[in-house]
Amino acid sequence: MFDDLIRSWDGEAVVMHYDAPGATWMFIALHSTRGGAAGGGTRMKVYPSPADGLADAMRLAGAMTLKMAVARGPNGGGKAVLAVPRIPQGAERRRLLLAYGDLVESLHGAFRTAPDVNTDDRDMDVVSERTRHAYGRSDAHGGAGSTAPDTAVGVFHGMRAGVAHVFGTEDLHGRRVVVQGAGGVGGELVRLLTEAGAEVAVADLDADRASAIAVSTGALVIHPAAALSEPCDVFAPCALGGILNEKSISSLRCRIVAGAANNQLATPEDADRLKDAGVLYAPDFVINAGGVLHVVALEMQGWSRSRLGDELAGIGRTLTEIFRTADAERITTEAAAERLARRRIREATGEPEPVR
Ligand code: NAI
Repeated sequence: MFDDLIRSWDGEAVVMHYDAPGATWMFIALHSTRGGAAGGGTRMKVYPSPADGLADAMRLAGAMTLKMAVARGPNGGGKAVLAVPRIPQGAERRRLLLAYGDLVESLHGAFRTAPDVNTDDRDMDVVSERTRHAYGRSDAHGGAGSTAPDTAVGVFHGMRAGVAHVFGTEDLHGRRVVVQGAGGVGGELVRLLTEAGAEVAVADLDADRASAIAVSTGALVIHPAAALSEPCDVFAPCALGGILNEKSISSLRCRIVAGAANNQLATPEDADRLKDAGVLYAPDFVINAGGVLHVVALEMQGWSRSRLGDELAGIGRTLTEIFRTADAERITTEAAAERLARRRIREATGEPEPVR
């Protein structure tokens, strides 16, 4: 069941481990170590089958290679998936995370990890009891805390770059923005946008969460089912991946898509669909690099907060370059971003692209 997936993958290696007590498959996909150790989050999730978990790890690891390259991070790309039968809590969760820490340590630094869906800084504290290669730990354990606020800052800069490209000014005053997902990133983004004078509508499956953000910022709450088709200047997906597909793209009523969610395009063809629909798309692996920059800056490189702030603002500058290249070459913004990533990999390694 795994052979076809691995054979058709363009990454370097996959580590698979079955944790019998937790009935959990652990996958670590090392997509590229050419730019340094493969870096990527640890996702804990219930999948329909173990192969679905492996496929997710592989896909996300490939995106991490691009994200690291564009952000000029000191790492290549990787991703870990813990394919659990149910999300464990308490002692069961701790035991599983320690076993996972042993697996990460067995790779002797080839893989560096941080939180992702269903894992957080406290989980990384536990993983780091067994390995030196867990980042995104809590402040109390020498980490730099949640990545979500800096991811939101990066998205904010990226959104301003998109608005400047489409409307000729980066001023967000009076711009209508729909934010899908009021979690760690979306909630902070709503705050930044309302402070900048934007008219923000927010949607979350968790109605209480959306209301709490709305009350504290003055944003409007809309029903989650209406988020994609709500008329606006910018749609900011900050919930799930795969939400831009043939059907949803035809219902969009925005000029720009600029949000944090990973792997927003359901298929590569959806980049063309957005272009044909006249929607400017900020490639996810560029605009959501703030979280990676947060970990790299504060836990790996020891940069100052002010240098990190400049790097986050650089997400906007990079997107401006990508938007201009896409226009000049008549290609999608996704293609322009991938081209930039490959150029930066070549610059960083001094090697030509490997042919796989
Ligand atoms: P989170 O789990 O804190 O928030 C996600 C929110 O989306 C939750 O409130 C959830 O109820 C809501 N949601 C789920 N499905 C929805 C739907 N169909 N419609 C409306 N709301 C829905 O996650 P977080 O950390 O805010 O991340 C958001 C997205 O950004 C995720 O896709 C994540 O992978 C991505 N991302 C996050 C980074 C970070 O630093 N936290 C870094 C890079 C990407």
